[in-house]
Amino acid sequence: MQDDVVRVGFLGAGLIATYHSKSLRRSGARVDRRGVYDPDPERAAAFAAASGHTVAASEDAVLDDCDAVYICTWTNEHARLLRSAVERGLHVFCEKPLAFTADDAQRMADVATAAGITHQVGLVLRRSPAYLWARHLIDDPAAGRVMAVVFRDDQFIPIQGHYASTWRADRSLVGAGTLLEHSIHDVDMLRYLVGDIASVSANTSNFHGHDGIEDVCTASLRFANGATGTLTSVWHDNLARPSLRRVEVFCERRHIVIEGDDWFGPVNWTDSDGTTGSLESEALAAAVQPMRDGGDNPDGEFIKAVIERRPATPDLHTAVAAHRVVDAMYASAAQGGTATQVLR
Ligand SMILES: NC(=O)c1ccc[n+]([C@@H]2O[C@H](COP(=O)([O-])OP(=O)(O)OC[C@H]3O[C@@H](n4cnc5c(N)ncnc54)[C@H](O)[C@@H]3O)[C@@H](O)[C@H]2O)c1
Repeated sequence: MQDDVVRVGFLGAGLIATYHSKSLRRSGARVDRRGVYDPDPERAAAFAAASGHTVAASEDAVLDDCDAVYICTWTNEHARLLRSAVERGLHVFCEKPLAFTADDAQRMADVATAAGITHQVGLVLRRSPAYLWARHLIDDPAAGRVMAVVFRDDQFIPIQGHYASTWRADRSLVGAGTLLEHSIHDVDMLRYLVGDIASVSANTSNFHGHDGIEDVCTASLRFANGATGTLTSVWHDNLARPSLRRVEVFCERRHIVIEGDDWFGPVNWTDSDGTTGSLESEALAAAVQPMRDGGDNPDGEFIKAVIERRPATPDLHTAVAAHRVVDAMYASAAQGGTATQVLR
């Protein structure tokens, strides 16, 4: 790294790599765009042409020529590539889910931390104004304690439409279905909004019939603080519904709903004295500005942390905690929905 300009490489040149590349540009972060590698040469070439990166001949060629690397491949490659990056002392932004199991995710986080690198995971909702504001409303003593939460997340199965991925139907590449691949975001947000999850009871179904790829997961949750909740995660074929979440939080004296856009709301709330509130779009972003630890752009914040040689957030350990809950849900579902403790 020279003059605080971070040389950035990309492994994987698909949908989420493109998102991060554009987001890096929007952030204004001082980066030197170096190699990109994807075994699909057309993807690598299209990414390079749009972003200013250079097509590299191999993973090693990318890793040998950067200070920080984005791991944006399908999931089964994350752990191996993270190790190759860490061995070189590179800083890493790794997409979620980290791995197929919490134990593998834990090993990744431990290796990264032991190496002293800056590491960040793609649990981007941690910077969403809608979730930040909802947490602010929950933390307000006037709301009272959280009693219950209802979290629904549905989208068309992402092997079609703008995702156009086939690997999400191949368990050897993706690991599992809607819970691991998509709703690990939701589990992370449940922990962020309400707190640690102590035990779960879950059921899964597989309507599409792809081996090992559940397309429905419903779970009942018990939080360590006494609150309870439900998570419903569905991959259907309703192409009019690309990715939609609705979250309802019942506090003792406040009811909060996040709906519409994951980032810009609206967030609506009602208090026991009849007061109501609603925030969305720019007004929502402005309201959360003072309560941010850093900016709202996950990629700009990652590069800033690299330059300042400090930990980034959310880091791989945050993802491990979500993986532990996901593992407990799968274990519960395998036993017909029995209550299962979340390991720490
Ligand atoms: N944070 C989010 O909101 C979010 C959203 C979408 C996807 N993701 C995650 O990002 C990852 C990629 O998803 P996507 O939607 O971009 O998929 P994608 O299919 O659009 O892109 C993945 C690319 O990785 C490439 N690849 C596979 N092995 C590779 C290797 N060893 N080296 C370099 N490239 C390799 C594939 O050829 C493919 O082009 C997945 O883990 C997914 O769960 C996260």
